[in-house]
Amino acid sequence: MAHYRALGRLPRQRHTQLRDDDGHLFREELMGEEGFSSDSSLLYHRGVPSAITDSQVWDLPDQSRTPNHPLKPRHLKLHDLRTGPCPVEGRRLVLGNNDVRIGYVVTGTDPSPLYRNAIGDECVYVESGTGTVETVFGVIPYRAGDYVLVPRATDHRWVPAEPSRLYAIEANSHIHPPKRYLSRFGQFLEHAPFCERDLHGPTATFEAEGTDVEVLVKHRTSAGIVGTRLTYATHPFDVVGWDGCLYPYTFNIEDYMPITGKVHQPPPVHQVFEGWNFVICNFLPRKVDYHDLAIPVPYYHSNVDSDEVMFYVGGDYEARKGSGINLGSISLHPGGHAHGPQPSAIEASLGADYFDESAVMVDTFAPLELGEGGLAVEDPAYAWTWAGRGPDGGDSPAVFSNS
Ligand SMILES: [Fe+2]
Repeated sequence: MAHYRALGRLPRQRHTQLRDDDGHLFREELMGEEGFSSDSSLLYHRGVPSAITDSQVWDLPDQSRTPNHPLKPRHLKLHDLRTGPCPVEGRRLVLGNNDVRIGYVVTGTDPSPLYRNAIGDECVYVESGTGTVETVFGVIPYRAGDYVLVPRATDHRWVPAEPSRLYAIEANSHIHPPKRYLSRFGQFLEHAPFCERDLHGPTATFEAEGTDVEVLVKHRTSAGIVGTRLTYATHPFDVVGWDGCLYPYTFNIEDYMPITGKVHQPPPVHQVFEGWNFVICNFLPRKVDYHDLAIPVPYYHSNVDSDEVMFYVGGDYEARKGSGINLGSISLHPGGHAHGPQPSAIEASLGADYFDESAVMVDTFAPLELGEGGLAVEDPAYAWTWAGRGPDGGDSPAVFSNS
């Protein structure tokens, strides 16, 4: 984020002494991206941020992936997935490639362990539930419809106030608003569908007491994604002040201003974030096309460079009745295969002036593979729903796709 924030106690100038009333010197830490060449923050710790007393293996949940082969569109019913209850360790891998992984968890109300994703930023969409995320930068509340953006290597823990459905998009890169929404100095431009006022970071520093505190660290080796349990001599939440442009924040889909048009608008107008080799878009309730002869549902499309993942999170699903797609569904429409509405759905949409559906979309530029969680809740009939019959014959329902 290119938006400067400052919280708590800071020395007047960076890299100079900051002491408490007893003369104790706070330890300054620069947390920065891209090798001192991108966004960063300076944090002032009571303890020593590098002081560890132990390092052990953390066995991650199953990270195995199965290629989408033979090639098929897929329907995954996340509300049938048994997960959790830990907001971090209970995540089950639904889809993934070497750029981004999507996990899903239904939490209980116990806090997660302290956790740090050292592989990349996380963008966790809150399908339902409320709570807070305690971080080394401060506490951020969350609620349904929030994207919770946690920068790479941020110590944090999830503290659900109620059971929460979390859709965790874990990148191997940084996640940020699209560059085309921003001025050359990073301010949101007038055509962007949201702006700085809609991004909510911590409002106060947050400290916790403790010694020999364990932090679960997700990281990479040549063998893939692994975990380590690091034990810190003192509690990592010991920051008395920080400033900079790198910090966690939330954005709620209610604050997104959909862009509409005289005829059908393509998915990029619904974009909210992007990472390396993927984008995140949200399709939200909105007025639709106002041309006299407009066709409100999309044309068939082959995104020849993308796999498209829709997660259906809200709205009226009467129009999809019988398709199998419902709240909590994921559709995976892979590159190399066209998708779009069933023909009768095109006629049925004519004259519509409003769509009441909410969906979060991840488009990747490399093929996605199925995680064990995705495979566990696949609807095998989905691939044949456009034709109305599959290899076994018989009827399959029509699909009304809004993406
Ligand atoms: Fe699509």
